[in-house]
Amino acid sequence: MSSPPAIRWEGDELHLLDQRQLPHRVEYLRIDGIADAVDAIAALAVRGAPAIGIAAAYALALAARRSGDVAGVLKDGGDALIAARPTAVNLRWAVERLRRRGAQEPRAAALADEASAIHREDAAACRGIGEHGRSLIKPGGNLLTHCNAGALAVSELGTATAPMYLSHQAGVSFHVYVDETRPLFQGARLTAWELGAAGIDLTLICDNAAASLMAAGRIDLIIVGTDRVARNGDVVNKIGTLNLAVLANHFGVPFYVACPSSTFDPDTPSGQEVIIEERAGDEVRQQHAAEVAVFNPAFDVTPATLVTGVITERGIARPPLAESLFDLLIAG
Ligand code: MRU
Repeated sequence: MSSPPAIRWEGDELHLLDQRQLPHRVEYLRIDGIADAVDAIAALAVRGAPAIGIAAAYALALAARRSGDVAGVLKDGGDALIAARPTAVNLRWAVERLRRRGAQEPRAAALADEASAIHREDAAACRGIGEHGRSLIKPGGNLLTHCNAGALAVSELGTATAPMYLSHQAGVSFHVYVDETRPLFQGARLTAWELGAAGIDLTLICDNAAASLMAAGRIDLIIVGTDRVARNGDVVNKIGTLNLAVLANHFGVPFYVACPSSTFDPDTPSGQEVIIEERAGDEVRQQHAAEVAVFNPAFDVTPATLVTGVITERGIARPPLAESLFDLLIAG
């Protein structure tokens, strides 16, 4: 693992790696309050479901310490942070966890302690996902991943990348095809960068090259991350994930989703109830199209029926996901 940490909490100061600048520049933003954190999350300076939850938790602790108004920060600051991005459940989950802690111990230090616990637990969850998922990667195998569900989106090993990092460390040789992930190129800018820095063998592809690779039998396994898995096992993730799942089903390629327990949302019955964030048209227009209308959903919903398994820190949930996920992550 050699990519810089996405989030640094040092002496009660919060610094976020500005992922908009990657891979060209490694720069940290200093976060001085809720408004800075909301801006950083909405603008994708920090992104990836677990990372935005962790950043929000630290921002609440920081703001509570500076203002002394723990209850006010948890209420209004928490609402502002939850509204910064609507799709990933980790944001709401982290804010609600700090609210519960703040209700028991209304002190900024207790909030900082809770935020650090979320951060530590996240790193441990990634390791668990890696341990459970690594047996899926066979020597000489060819993998495909989408967007960035790596160290930059989470902690340390990432989620979808954790089985890759652990297999690589164990000396297993394999190859990863990385979808560039239009329109913001998290695959090209972030995943290719961090896997490459770790010495993992990879090839960057246009998103629309995935079908022909699968048709040619050149993909053995797909692992993606997720922003939210609903109660019935529907998977919400970066736009284009559904395309991959449909293709994988057609070509008989195993399609796995790496999901820490913080990303499972048993309160949302299915993917149809999840708000899909729509982002600015200019992200799609870029330099190619001036005034044309744009539809730019940031995420899509993959029905549970297209998912081979969900890799969690407690094991791999297999269909029927509506039962197995709940048993693994809630009941057990
Ligand atoms: O818009 P982004 O870059 O925040 O989207 C990120 C993803 O879709 C990731 O796959 C997901 O958050 C999982 S990160 C472990």
